[in-house]
Amino acid sequence: MPIQGYPDPGEGLRLHLNENTGGCSARVLDAIRRVQTADVSTYPSYPSVVRACARHFDVDPDWVLLTNGLDEGILMAAVGHIARTRAFDAETIIPLPAFDPYPNSTAAVGATAIRIPPEPGFVFQTEAVIRAITPRTRMIFLNTPNNPTGQLISIADLKRIATAAPHAIVLIDEAYIEFGGETFLPELSKCPNVLVGRTFSKAYGLAGMRVGIVIGQPTALDAVRAVTLPFNVNAVAMAATHAALEDHDFLPRYAAQVAESRARLYAACRGLGLEFWESAANFVLVRVGDAVPLFVEALASRRVHVRDRSRDQSTPGCIRITAGITEHTDAAIDALESVVAGRRLR
Ligand SMILES: Cc1ncc(COP(=O)(O)O)c(C=O)c1O
Repeated sequence: MPIQGYPDPGEGLRLHLNENTGGCSARVLDAIRRVQTADVSTYPSYPSVVRACARHFDVDPDWVLLTNGLDEGILMAAVGHIARTRAFDAETIIPLPAFDPYPNSTAAVGATAIRIPPEPGFVFQTEAVIRAITPRTRMIFLNTPNNPTGQLISIADLKRIATAAPHAIVLIDEAYIEFGGETFLPELSKCPNVLVGRTFSKAYGLAGMRVGIVIGQPTALDAVRAVTLPFNVNAVAMAATHAALEDHDFLPRYAAQVAESRARLYAACRGLGLEFWESAANFVLVRVGDAVPLFVEALASRRVHVRDRSRDQSTPGCIRITAGITEHTDAAIDALESVVAGRRLR
């Protein structure tokens, strides 16, 4: 078995995990420095952070469940809605390409993943998802903007799917919604079978703290709450989350950098003749063709780490590049240009 987690790529620009390349708010670091002995020696208390999140997302506190990263929220949703029911024939629906924890959580609870292959251009396939719904469907994993394509699913399409599967839970993963697109949250009061997943890892730069949120009506959320461990998020992460929510300037500033970085990446790809997909998230999927691992290695040797997506059959020949602070993007573009030029010379 490999060592736990992803290997550290070493020195250089981390553009391979869609993290915030500018770090977190200074207010978060101050809050972490102010952590007291009692915060460390006692079990964490969640109500005040839950209330702050509820205010921020404009929902009732009963609709909020804090999780150890959204990763945990995804797994617990599957445990709560599938494993707990002991249904032997449960299915989940997963449009491709998809974030690995959807099939992994499906497998963990012994369900069968019904995968919807992508269309050219990665246009979201609402009809194919609706056609795949059966009485056995327990969960539908929808991700908008999608990782790794950056494509959005419209609110109308999300509603159609939720309405077509009243017996199933629709998990709308909005991990990257702060960078583009429209949140489903205002629709949630009309959708008792929908859960919305959010994270502090991306836009807020708290990936190392591990804080996610699952939001939904008690009809959908209580089953997840029932299986989630009582002290799943640590006290330091709670202090960090509070401070992140209080810094109102941080998010718009960073989102503007991301938008500019995406535009620079598109221009660079156009110049280099590389196919790419315009993205609503903090990354861009680029097709570099054959020999992606060699390409990724050549970028890494220039201290730029990007994600090899070529092993996923839905994204052949592709890499995914995080778009963050513009200076970092410019450095990545320089490296990209020199690798492409080097390959053309051979
Ligand atoms: C689509 C998607 N959902 C959820 C997550 C998980 O985020 P977290 O760091 O909160 O576990 C990620 C992280 O990469 C992601 O890409």
